[in-house]
Amino acid sequence: MNQQLEDLFEFLRFPSISTDSKHAGDVRNCANWIIEKLTGMGLTTELHETPKHPIVIARNQHEAGKKTVLIYGHYDVQPVDPVELWDTSPFEPVLKDGRIWARGATDNKGQMLAHVLGVEETLKEEGELPVNLIFLFEGEEEIGSPNLVPFLKEHKDDLACDVIAVSDTGMVARGVPTMGYGLRGISCCEVTVRGPKGDLHSGVYGGAVANPATAVAQLVASLHDDEGNIAIEGFYDDVRPLETWEREMWATVPGMSDDDLLKITGSPAPFGEPGYSSAERLWARPTAEVNGIGGGYQGEGSKTVLPAKAMAKFSFRLVPDQDPKDISAKVKAHLEKHCPPGVTVDVEVGHDGKPYICDPHSENGKAGQVALEQAFGKAPVLIREGGSIPIIQDMKEILGVESLMLGLALPDCQIHAPNENYYVENFEGGIRLNKALLKELAK
Ligand code: BES
Ligand code: ZN
Repeated sequence: MNQQLEDLFEFLRFPSISTDSKHAGDVRNCANWIIEKLTGMGLTTELHETPKHPIVIARNQHEAGKKTVLIYGHYDVQPVDPVELWDTSPFEPVLKDGRIWARGATDNKGQMLAHVLGVEETLKEEGELPVNLIFLFEGEEEIGSPNLVPFLKEHKDDLACDVIAVSDTGMVARGVPTMGYGLRGISCCEVTVRGPKGDLHSGVYGGAVANPATAVAQLVASLHDDEGNIAIEGFYDDVRPLETWEREMWATVPGMSDDDLLKITGSPAPFGEPGYSSAERLWARPTAEVNGIGGGYQGEGSKTVLPAKAMAKFSFRLVPDQDPKDISAKVKAHLEKHCPPGVTVDVEVGHDGKPYICDPHSENGKAGQVALEQAFGKAPVLIREGGSIPIIQDMKEILGVESLMLGLALPDCQIHAPNENYYVENFEGGIRLNKALLKELAK
């Protein structure tokens, strides 16, 4: 195995799960490993403490007259459960069938390290970089970046730059370079429905006391109409319609047919808002999803119980120009209004993030497209993304700069799921991409 793969394997061995306080030490060790790597490359590094996980900054020697490029990434990862569904251990990376299998391999350590190693190669080959570089790596992306916004505000001047580059998104298919010019936003909430003061015998009391699990099911069902449109009052008020050129362009993007979707997801049929293609539903339309639902007996066999409470967790994906706070308020009002009689509902609003959109044909956008073509041998497709990286819009507002999203995740990389993996060809392509990108942006 070459040194670059060795580096990635070392990086992947840290179980840097940001949401789990048991792993706080692992997150920190991982940050220290990055610091060591970047220092070894000759960059000046800073480790910034936050109330939770550290932020890593690194720079080369900046020179007046050169463009400043900020490269953002995250070194935290999602939890591994259900761990029994992994074929190999999530933090013992293995190389098999041209892919690296480990939690974080694609999201985001493998993509982040491609940037780092591209810079390392350029420094070895040229002695210096064509741009002033700022690396900004956080350990809290997967929990909504709670400490990065205050950090950006506090260090606004130190982080001043001309453009931001991020590899934390997708490529539509193998060998199809992809530039993202939009991200969906997100609003999360959790609902608890309560009925009797404790679990009841469902024969002795069922029929005369409302069932909280039924009420949760009714609330979930109330979110959509029969056609699949979201039924929350005012939900679509600020949705920016798709542009004609986007619809035309997306209709030609490979890997996005209904057949492709069914193959990759294993679902029996396509589904969604009437009047839109799958690509449009994923990239430019908002959604209401149940992420978890529970209450009552879930063990083997049957148990005749009327549960005292039931719950559901929701996330709403948002598009320009929806505002997450406005949506959270509308969702809360909807759930309270639709709560059936005989139970009480408590809606706890969770974290959120704004949607993002930029012009893929700006000067920097064109440089990004040229770099993708050089690294992967053909012109990139231009897409918006279904996923969210809330800090991208925050950086636009605080630093006043656009982000180029140069994704290396493939549809079967299984990010956030068991058996996450990363194609070695995209790791290598990502390293070439970083080198080409810095050159193109410097012009
Ligand atoms: N890298 C993903 C986001 C992503 C994946 C964008 C694929 C486009 C294509 C990121 O790490 C992520 O998972 N973000 C979370 C954000 C949330 C926790 C606020 C998401 O989208 O669920
Ligand atoms: Zn993620």
